[in-house]
Amino acid sequence: MQIDPADLGAERIYRLMTGIVVPRPIAWVTSLSRSGVLNLAPFSAFTFVSQKPPMLAISVGRKGADYKDTAHNILDTEEYVIHIADTPLMNAVHDSSVEHPPEVSEVAELGLETHPSERIKVPRLTAAPVAMECRFRQCLEFGEARSRLIVGEVVMFHLRDGLVNNGKVETEALDPIARIGGPRYARLGEIVTLHAVFQTPKSTD
Ligand SMILES: Cc1cc2nc3c(=O)[nH]c(=O)nc-3n(C[C@H](O)[C@H](O)[C@H](O)COP(=O)(O)O)c2cc1C
Repeated sequence: MQIDPADLGAERIYRLMTGIVVPRPIAWVTSLSRSGVLNLAPFSAFTFVSQKPPMLAISVGRKGADYKDTAHNILDTEEYVIHIADTPLMNAVHDSSVEHPPEVSEVAELGLETHPSERIKVPRLTAAPVAMECRFRQCLEFGEARSRLIVGEVVMFHLRDGLVNNGKVETEALDPIARIGGPRYARLGEIVTLHAVFQTPKSTD
């Protein structure tokens, strides 16, 4: 089967691409509005783009004609926290994607506890196994909808005790969730360790 994207509208292309690029890790983002409302939303268009300094990218679309609260907040205040959620937080992640007006805090709505951050004003979620305090660095806009690829530098990592062993994150202990699409999520399946006959490449990609 071949599909020419020129024949499809934005909605169908979105469905196709979110079905192809799977499973996607989820950046669960807290940010503060100018008036101090703590916002929370998940973003699965998420990856890292630099090691030193550590930099992460999320792609934030629009709701109607306007950008989502997260994009406004990050561009306004230049600070945010990206969390990684585990299986017990799956419902909260999904529920935090419900659209609320900017003056409503999803954190308060969901009754989630927070901790102050070390380097930035935006609080982090106590229940998340990983929290990364970020400072905004760059924003690039793409496509007809001008989706915003927001890049930030991690200025502090927080990892739950016991998650790091010899500098490596224990993936099973992290138990991260991933997004498929709509209400469908994935958990870690079998982890396959290859016993390669060749030397492990030095590249850190
Ligand atoms: C698991 C999950 C992943 C999502 N990923 C994205 C994404 O990558 N980009 C995006 O614009 N919206 C994404 N959404 C939708 C936003 O979370 C949703 O529009 C949210 O209401 C935005 O909140 P805000 O206006 O408070 O920023 C996702 C939703 C879910 C449930």
